[in-house]
Amino acid sequence: MRGQITDDVTSFYSNYPYPSIRFPFGKRHRQFVGKLISLWGFSPESIRGKEVLDAGCGTGEKALLLAHMGAQVTAVDICQKQVERAYGLAKMHNQDIHFAVADVTRLSLNRKFDGILCSGVLHHTADPHGAFRRLCAHLKPGGRIIVGLYNAYSRVHYRVVRAALRTAFRGDPGRIMSFIAHNPFAAPLRTASLPTLYDRYAVPHESYHTLGEVRKMFAENGIEVHAISPEVCGPDTITQLCWLLQGKSFFFVSGVKLS
Ligand SMILES: C[S@@+](CC[C@H](N)C(=O)[O-])C[C@H]1O[C@@H](n2cnc3c(N)ncnc32)[C@H](O)[C@@H]1O
Repeated sequence: MRGQITDDVTSFYSNYPYPSIRFPFGKRHRQFVGKLISLWGFSPESIRGKEVLDAGCGTGEKALLLAHMGAQVTAVDICQKQVERAYGLAKMHNQDIHFAVADVTRLSLNRKFDGILCSGVLHHTADPHGAFRRLCAHLKPGGRIIVGLYNAYSRVHYRVVRAALRTAFRGDPGRIMSFIAHNPFAAPLRTASLPTLYDRYAVPHESYHTLGEVRKMFAENGIEVHAISPEVCGPDTITQLCWLLQGKSFFFVSGVKLS
């Protein structure tokens, strides 16, 4: 049985496509995905031919670039509408990607991958640790996983605004977004594209994670940490303080499955 969080999050992304990158082959997005690939532990050459899973692919722009670079991509998302959008994008660019509607917390694809990318997804699930465990079960020995999560010590300013908006509009994403998009009082909030704004302020559920927690989660699943971004600048508490001061609210951790 699906829970309330899953239903709310699925319904949210049905109505509000994310990330909806306008130019997936544009320089900025290509550079971002290039960095992600290197953090993951691959290179533009080594990703070619690799079987990779984009878990929680959203509107599919990352999967698209990975396929374009020669990876054999499977992309899943819990939200059928998101999968349809991603499928449409891949078709428009003649990329062969295998798509499926699937919940990462119950993932069972009957196959294993050389690489798994799960960016901005676990913190919208009811069970981020359980979902990570399911993902690791789909990784080949020596396979590489990268997750992107909200940092527990940052995003404070967004969280305050988000809580206020959720209280004022009784958690209704439609009303929150209408306020942000049209109300003159919300003008100072409009510092990013609309998809970024609704992902920032209107998503029905998000959780926040520490570096220590993610290190533990990796260790418990036999994953050795390979890279962390933004940069680590000392013990975890100091690093997270640095991220807080730099306003870095999202972090990536990648690792390799030991056996
Ligand atoms: C913030 S978007 C991230 C999209 C993409 N990974 C990216 O980096 O741009 C979150 C996506 O995770 C999906 N999602 C949320 N919960 C999920 C779950 N339990 N299983 C699979 N996908 C899920 C949502 O439908 C949405 O498309």
